[in-house]
Formats: sequence, structure tokens, C-alpha cells
Amino acid sequence: MDESKSDVTSNCQTFVNLRAQGTAYEEYKKLYDEIDEDYLKNVKRVIVFGSGPGLSEITFLKKLVKNLTSLTVVEKDEECLELLKMNVKNYLSDEINFSHYLTTAQNWQGSSENDDKADLILIFHFLYFLEETDRKTFYRNCFMNWLKQNGKMFIKLHKDMHDTDNSYFLYNIYRKTGRKLYVESHTVKKELEEKGYMIEKTYHYKCFYDLNASINSIAKLAIIHADPPYEDDTIVWRTLRKLYGGQGKICTTGELFSVTNKC
Ligand SMILES: C[S@@+](CC[C@H](N)C(=O)[O-])C[C@H]1O[C@@H](n2cnc3c(N)ncnc32)[C@H](O)[C@@H]1O
Repeated sequence: MDESKSDVTSNCQTFVNLRAQGTAYEEYKKLYDEIDEDYLKNVKRVIVFGSGPGLSEITFLKKLVKNLTSLTVVEKDEECLELLKMNVKNYLSDEINFSHYLTTAQNWQGSSENDDKADLILIFHFLYFLEETDRKTFYRNCFMNWLKQNGKMFIKLHKDMHDTDNSYFLYNIYRKTGRKLYVESHTVKKELEEKGYMIEKTYHYKCFYDLNASINSIAKLAIIHADPPYEDDTIVWRTLRKLYGGQGKICTTGELFSVTNKC
């Protein structure tokens, strides 16, 4: 993509491109290797919110949920949901009872096909898209309506200004250009603990992007999610070069943590 020309890459494709350009998938695999396989040994039913194409969730399930019988996915983007369906077909057993909903997490009314509650909910890089009040309703729905009494959530999010030396590159662009910052891991953990939920296990990761290879995908991502939108998109490329031009590499950090209902 040339910054002076108009671009027709979809939101879903921008995400797919950027993921393929950095080391995230390798790092996530290492992260899942750190989790004790016994921790999820009783899990059979799983719900995923904001799956995108679902590759990191599928890798997680294949590694850690050996007795999966049912998978429900809630994803609002049609193109992402089509990729997810293809990936489920290619990588998971067709004996798994798979249902999918093309809707937002805020509008989802629960599974219409199966009344059983889930053992596990996966929420990977998704909570950025919920406002604070929606997040609080969402946590309550997860624990009160969708998870079994002893069910767990696994949440993955970027770190920004807390517990890291590398503030998140997207938020660095937004800070420099006066755009809204979305939520990060530290805040979500605090919100959950304030509501009486327990953060049980935490795993940290770090991944890298080569600036030259990724600059267009990163700029496109920044433009898609900017609030308010940019009047002149070229400011994003200029800001990226100013922030990272000298380094050549962009580092991002994040964490995966499990949450239980101790109430
Ligand atoms: C950053 S991607 C993460 C994809 C995947 N979970 C991963 O970690 O690789 C976020 C996904 O959440 C979806 N999404 C955003 N807002 C949503 C909402 N309100 N309800 C359901 N899905 C949503 C987007 O369409 C996108 O596919």
C-alpha cells in the first residue's frame, strides 16, 4: 500500500496481514506451552468471542483442550467468520459440535442450539472493542449466564504503560496524534478484581515487527481504529517513522491470564 493512494484492504485482511508479518503466532505457541495441561483437563464446552480467523484460539484448543466436544464462536465481521469456519474445518475434528454467530458480543443472547453452559471462554485481543460499561456487563454475562459455576475465562491483551518497558505501538501513535486510547491488560485485570473475580494464572509474551515489512499494515490498523478518524492519513506514516524509524524493529508485549469466579 502506498500512503498516497487509496486502499481497499478490508479490516479482516489488515489483521491477517499484520499477524503474518510479526512473530506473534510463534510467541503465542510458546505461551500455550507454558500452561499446565491438567489445568484445563475437564473442559469440554468452549465459547470464543471476537475470534477473527481463529488461528490463535484453534492452536490453544488443540494444545490444551483435548476433550473438546462443543465450540461456539461469536464474531461480528463476516469475512473473519468465513475464515474461521474454514480454519475450524481444516484444523479441528468434525465430531466437535460447532456453532457460530455473526453478531456482536453485546447483542448475543446465548447459544440457541445448546443450553449447557461452557467450561471455558476465550477472549483473545477482543476487549479493546467494548466500552467500559459494556465490558462490565460482558464480564457479568460470562460468569452468570454463559459459564458453569467453576468455569474459567482466558483473556489475552496488549500491555501498554504498565508492567512493560514497551508501550503499545498503536497507542504510541494515538498518544502522539491525540486519538482515543483503547483498554489494555492492566485495566481489565483491575476491573475484574474490583468485581470480585480472581486472576488465577498469568503468562507474559513479547513479539516483534520489522518496521519496513510491517509499516503499511500497522498504519492501516491505526487508521481503521482511530477515534476520531484522521483527516489526513499520511500523519500516521510520519508518526511511525518518527517513533520507530531509528530502531527498525517494533516490539510489543502482552499477557494471557485466566479468570475465575471466586464468589
Ligand atoms: C484483533 S482481532 C482478534 C482475533 C483473534 N481473537 C486473535 O486474537 O487472533 C478482534 C476481532 O474481534 C472482532 N470484534 C470486534 N468487535 C466485536 C464485537 N463487539 N463483537 C464480536 N466481535 C467483535 C473483530 O471483528 C475481530 O475479528
